[in-house]
Amino acid sequence: MWHILKADSVNHKLPELFQEAEALRGIKDGIDLGLCQMKPTGCENKVMATLFFEPSTRTRLSFETAMHRLGGKVISATDSQNLSLAKGESQFETLQTVSMMADIIVVRGFKSEEWNENVIRRVPIINAGGRYNHPTQALLDAYTLWRHYLSIGRQSKYLVYPEGSMKHLVVGDLGNSRTIHSYISLMKSRFDHEFYIYDATGRNNAVPGMTPNTHIIQLTNKDEVEKCLPDMDVVYLNRVQKERHAAGTEFNTMPVFEMTERHLDRMKPTALVLNPGPCQEELPSSLFDHPKVKVNEQVENGVYVRMALLRQVLTGEFYAYR
Ligand code: CP
Repeated sequence: MWHILKADSVNHKLPELFQEAEALRGIKDGIDLGLCQMKPTGCENKVMATLFFEPSTRTRLSFETAMHRLGGKVISATDSQNLSLAKGESQFETLQTVSMMADIIVVRGFKSEEWNENVIRRVPIINAGGRYNHPTQALLDAYTLWRHYLSIGRQSKYLVYPEGSMKHLVVGDLGNSRTIHSYISLMKSRFDHEFYIYDATGRNNAVPGMTPNTHIIQLTNKDEVEKCLPDMDVVYLNRVQKERHAAGTEFNTMPVFEMTERHLDRMKPTALVLNPGPCQEELPSSLFDHPKVKVNEQVENGVYVRMALLRQVLTGEFYAYR
């Protein structure tokens, strides 16, 4: 397969991507050497197009930073009204046109059927956040866990996950969060992982892609969330996606779990908190510098792991799997 559609597309290459992200980060023998040391990267004459028709801070700028650091070029469109879409061009035609100019396209806000690999064949396309999938967010989440467990000596450099079982508490808007689906989709490849799930909208939405093998405990109220905190290895928080709910619908009245310093103190010393951002009441910015909260590391790690992915895709070393 050519395109990177969902978390499963990258699962088979995690160790190689993580190793390369470390190399690109310039960390060698414990010394941070700074920016990309890999010259040439093979991307110097390549062009990446970013087409984002839904808002984004982290993903688009992270991809663009990654491509610049690899020595490549970036073209970008963030407003469909300034493209010929406004004159009646179809999304398919937009993508096909851009595929005649760029070497890789990163998209958000397109209908997935328009960029299916059976339709756009000339260049690889990376899904930068669709309805239920955000593969590179899951990639950077997994890379952040890998680095954390490596740093505390619970992880071999050549394995993707630490030995033993892990407990994940996942809190958020299950019906709308692509990052939650991608996170669970990547993590559930280990059968000894348990997921404690609290739907912050109170709807207890099913998580698409869950297999009968996936060990899920559905939590129904905030007290249960608080009670399980001391047993968790990872707490994955996600905001309620207000923009995807009609005004006045029931999510407004549901109790959103809000992380506090007291909660963090009750968690295991080795536990960590992830949030793909943007963060709202579930994780106040006053907690961003807490050692267990990895929000800023996620953003930083996203650049390096996307550099690794872009370089491997553009040089033909990476072939997506489905
Ligand atoms: N995590 C994430 O997708 O953030 P942005 O919407 O800011 O890109």
